[in-house]
Amino acid sequence: SRRVIIDTDPGLDDAVAILLALADPALDVIGITSVAGNIGIALTTRNAGRLLAAMGCGDVPVAIGAIGPLQGRTIDEAAIHGDDGLGGVKLPEPDHPPKPDAVLWLAETLRAHPAGSIDLLALGPLTNLALLLRQDPDAARRLGRVIAMGGAIDEPGNVGTRSEFNCAADPHAVAEVLAAGLDLTLVPLDVTRKVRANRQDVAELMAGSTVAAQLSGAFVAAYFQTAILKESRPLHDPLVMLLAVAPELFALEPMWLTVERDDPIEAGALSRDPEGQPVLVAMGIDAPSAMARLKAGLGGAAGRP
Ligand code: BDR
Ligand code: CA
Repeated sequence: SRRVIIDTDPGLDDAVAILLALADPALDVIGITSVAGNIGIALTTRNAGRLLAAMGCGDVPVAIGAIGPLQGRTIDEAAIHGDDGLGGVKLPEPDHPPKPDAVLWLAETLRAHPAGSIDLLALGPLTNLALLLRQDPDAARRLGRVIAMGGAIDEPGNVGTRSEFNCAADPHAVAEVLAAGLDLTLVPLDVTRKVRANRQDVAELMAGSTVAAQLSGAFVAAYFQTAILKESRPLHDPLVMLLAVAPELFALEPMWLTVERDDPIEAGALSRDPEGQPVLVAMGIDAPSAMARLKAGLGGAAGRP
């Protein structure tokens, strides 16, 4: 199985993604770094530890990441993810206190393993990775692949008309990560909006035989509570995990991108630009198979033979 670190701001869809990674034998989660995003850093850190405890993985370390973006103000999504960031779903408390410094922990962990042997699965604003690149670029270059949920290419944004939340929450971090020349794959709204859970999917997950399936059902149900009239909800962050374990479900396109840094509304918007930075972007997905693979990975009812 592939060693991965999850960088995340849980967050309901982050939570489903984390459960999928922990449940899937193809991934060996060696740690989680938290970041402020959907909600503040204290809660995203606690939520990461609570999810690990619920899955019986309390020994996997959580390290506390950035409290806010490299520059400017934090944007918060408590209206979508609930006051605790996880829709009030009942979970055990973390088994261990978190490690104090995500950037230091990342650098030490990357040095303790062979270069290229750890992938980073990034589900929130890219602040932690940008800080690692600033503070210890040699350690950052030991990363294998970086797969990040973020951006909107041809799709409209979900913050500005063209900007997506993770990129909008720290556009300067996006610029520094793009410029670093890492092996970077982006999973934008163009694909994540296509993989949508409906109420039948929620019911199937809740009826699943595993903790991962049942909790995911509860998180997606909570994701419906804040969008009462919607028939389905997009599962953004779990697609990063699916790209890591089932790349055949995706169509990847090489692109050269720049990011808007300063516009008050469109900061974080990505543009195709031949002078920009090269990056692989997931632009196509087999959505029905992705949903089936997600349920199978979580051990939901539809995943059982
Ligand atoms: C992204 O923003 C967050 O609200 C979600 O967790 C996801 O990472 C979608 O734009
Ligand atoms: Ca997220």
